[in-house]
Amino acid sequence: MTTAVLQLEKLCKSFGGVHAVRDLSFSVGHGEILGLIGPNGSGKSTTVNALAGVFPVTSGEILLAGGHIQTLPEYERVSMGLARTFQTASTFAEFSVRDQVRLGCNVTLKSHPLSSVFGIGRHPGENEVIDRRIDDILDLTGLAGVGDEKVATITAAEQRFLMIATALASNPKVILLDEPAAGLVSHERKALADVIRGIRDTGVSVLVIEHHMALIMEVCDRIVVLNFGSKIAEGTPDEIRSDQAVIDAYLGEAV
Ligand SMILES: Nc1ncnc2c1ncn2[C@@H]1O[C@H](COP(=O)(O)OP(=O)(O)O)[C@@H](O)[C@H]1O
Ligand SMILES: [Mg+2]
Repeated sequence: MTTAVLQLEKLCKSFGGVHAVRDLSFSVGHGEILGLIGPNGSGKSTTVNALAGVFPVTSGEILLAGGHIQTLPEYERVSMGLARTFQTASTFAEFSVRDQVRLGCNVTLKSHPLSSVFGIGRHPGENEVIDRRIDDILDLTGLAGVGDEKVATITAAEQRFLMIATALASNPKVILLDEPAAGLVSHERKALADVIRGIRDTGVSVLVIEHHMALIMEVCDRIVVLNFGSKIAEGTPDEIRSDQAVIDAYLGEAV
């Protein structure tokens, strides 16, 4: 059995009296795409935010590559290999697409953070290594053609892929995607599926939250289903599709 990249052990998160996530355990394996689905309010975003370190967990454990991270601040989790995208854009409109991705490289640099954009004060050879990495990431996310465009001028879909590109720049072991298909049309969702598989093929594990079931069923190796903060099922897309508890709680007759 391979060790998990990311592991949750009996994770609980309460907000006052609201048990947003209860006793949640699952793991993401090396090179695995894991889907996290469930009705609105079932605790998906709370899980991702707890993993990323946005707020402390109420109880339970989070392990990244076997090490406990649940008490570490957000930036340390990023530098240890846990990257995430946000549901809303946090980009710099006047930056080029390349420079926005370059900013994301900061956490793994030895040089001063500001040198990532201005290219000064770098360790020898670092600029070239980073430029190559940015090229690879732009290729992987389908943004190679707009690398020199200003962030403000690219399409909404490209901005969304840029957020994934920026998260990839930190050289993660696992990337958390919270509703990456929101607002995308059919051919953009297809491109997203290719990007997610491409990320996995580079050896980065993916945890994806998504309402778009066709996308989830197509790309995920395994799926975890939440309802009222608890896991109600876990399995392959085929197993999840035919799981009566999942159909009752979430899927209905549609899938
Ligand atoms: N910051 C917060 N303060 C209070 N309650 C919250 C907060 N974030 C989420 N919740 C509650 O936790 C539950 C799970 O929410 P969430 O994780 O956002 O669900 P999902 O992403 O699956 O739609 C909901 O009942 C929600 O109202
Ligand atoms: Mg959510």
